[in-house]
Amino acid sequence: MVINKNTRLIISDIDNTLIGDAEALNKLFEELRHADNLHFGVATGRRLDSAVSVLEEWQVPKPVIFITSVGSEIHYAPNLIKDEGWKKHINEQWEPERLKKTLETFTLAMQPKLSQREFKVSYFVDHTFELWQPKLDEYLQQNNLSANMIYSSGKFLDFLPKKASKGLAVRYLANKWGLPLKQFLVAGDSGNDEEMLTSGAFGIVVRNYSFELEKLKNNDNIYFANGSNAQGILEGIKHFNFLNSSLMR
Ligand code: GLC
Ligand code: MG
Repeated sequence: MVINKNTRLIISDIDNTLIGDAEALNKLFEELRHADNLHFGVATGRRLDSAVSVLEEWQVPKPVIFITSVGSEIHYAPNLIKDEGWKKHINEQWEPERLKKTLETFTLAMQPKLSQREFKVSYFVDHTFELWQPKLDEYLQQNNLSANMIYSSGKFLDFLPKKASKGLAVRYLANKWGLPLKQFLVAGDSGNDEEMLTSGAFGIVVRNYSFELEKLKNNDNIYFANGSNAQGILEGIKHFNFLNSSLMR
């Protein structure tokens, strides 16, 4: 992957954003194929292996950056090398065992073992979550537990180290490569995309978004597309004139 000062990156969520409409997906990559100095990456709640296989299934051209497990891991193509710097950066005040033990009071439903990662503890919740979220916040504070709590699609609840999220991972990349966030375009549909959409990059919310993102409306840097899935991404690219506009913004 060659990065220079004019490089632009499109980082997209996978489920319900990039995939879902095969025809639009084809159109999107047809458009991106002609762009110079552009890299494509994904940012997903999935594990790396699961991200790789669903992208193969949908015949998505190989991304160069994989932000996975809700931003707690970063890998780079072609050899899927892990970013150890990121791991080091987020590994601060992270006590997953004590966190899980403490959360037992809340009778949350644990996600399957495969969804639990070194830097991600995940549960299933329901729509009532917002009602008891303040209590949960308070309880974690009382117990001196630091974590980034992320609610998605009305049913997933992830706990990550305070410094980890899809959005913080995107900012880390911008910083690492010395690129302004305005050279990043991100796209998503649900709660775990929120920090990425408000990170300072250009953001696209696809039409089929989940209610948690409603609060991002009326924000100049965030475009709510009329099209769903990849169609919405295509539309957002045009809205921001992301592939053609001069870099002098
Ligand atoms: C993916 C992950 C799951 C996570 C969810 C929301 O579905 O598999 O563990 O809770 O994304 O981030
Ligand atoms: Mg999604």
